[in-house]
Amino acid sequence: MVVPPTPENLERAAQIIRSGGLVAFPTETVYGLGANALDARAAARIFEAKQRPSFDPLIVHVADRGMLQKVVREIPAVAEQLMERFWPGPLTLVLPKSEQVPGIVTSGLPTVAVRMPAHPVAQALIRQAGVPVAAPSANPFGYLSPTRAEHVLRTLGERVDLILDGGRTEFGVESTIVLLAEKPTVLRYGAVALEELEKVLGALELQVGEREKPLVPGQLPQHYAPHTPIRIAPPEDIPPLLRKRVGYLAFQEVPKGFKVVKVLSPTGSLLEAAAHLFEALHQLDRLGLEAIYAEPIPEVGLGRAIMDRLRRASSAPAG
Ligand code: TXA
Ligand code: MG
Repeated sequence: MVVPPTPENLERAAQIIRSGGLVAFPTETVYGLGANALDARAAARIFEAKQRPSFDPLIVHVADRGMLQKVVREIPAVAEQLMERFWPGPLTLVLPKSEQVPGIVTSGLPTVAVRMPAHPVAQALIRQAGVPVAAPSANPFGYLSPTRAEHVLRTLGERVDLILDGGRTEFGVESTIVLLAEKPTVLRYGAVALEELEKVLGALELQVGEREKPLVPGQLPQHYAPHTPIRIAPPEDIPPLLRKRVGYLAFQEVPKGFKVVKVLSPTGSLLEAAAHLFEALHQLDRLGLEAIYAEPIPEVGLGRAIMDRLRRASSAPAG
């Protein structure tokens, strides 16, 4: 059931979380599928609803420092610097986990991924629930991430106890994930641009994109994929006859001759393009097209996160 985030509905949602249920809620990145992060059975329901393999750990969302201290064992100085600059906001930090976090949440890893979302509905929900909230993106495993309540309803529907509708999400791509090991390491490009992190920390290690042996499944090559096959190619590489049969996801300008075209940002803004990415893919995916072609995006700032998602969406299923 989809409801607006009124005070009554927020209280109801918080009650559902406290009693072990599942609530989908908006964050500034994408919609999350939330459960009490300290309750192993509640967390197990997330995996079941998403059909997510149990080796793919969840992100734990906190509303304040007190909750953070409950879920992590220690906070290195570098983490303090990053939190100071980017929290609340779309940056996830991977830190040593406390004993209170059940193994199912971290897939048995000794670390836990945490973030403090900036979205007022997410904050209110976590604060009122009074517990940290484990929440992956609210989509079936491997499918496009949801940037609207209706995306959640259409793909997870009855498997969620309540869906809080906060409209379209601001960033439209997931949080950036940084592992705070000996050297800070970017594990996933996301809504905080690499350039912004570098301003705070200098050069970072990168473990993003396709790897022979994924460290964690958010890094699996095939992820965020629509049902329709997707390929990355500039419009000039696509012959006129093929254009008539396929959809095109363009960055800024409308190319001629395609069956259908979605433009991510008429003004060429990477921020706007990221915000529209999953929505445009959801729309194209519903048209039953033979294929979707996507224009390569400049790989700077949020362009890195966009190209990361497009590459994963376009790789062949991982067996
Ligand atoms: O923006 C976001 O981060 C959204 C919203 C809902 O907050 N959440 C999200 O969660 O994108 P999800 O489940 O789609 O991505 C979680 C990913 C995992 O696939 C993995 O790559 C990484 O976070 N992760 C979680 N725990 C980790 C850990 N202990 N070590 C390394 N990576 C971890
Ligand atoms: Mg996800």
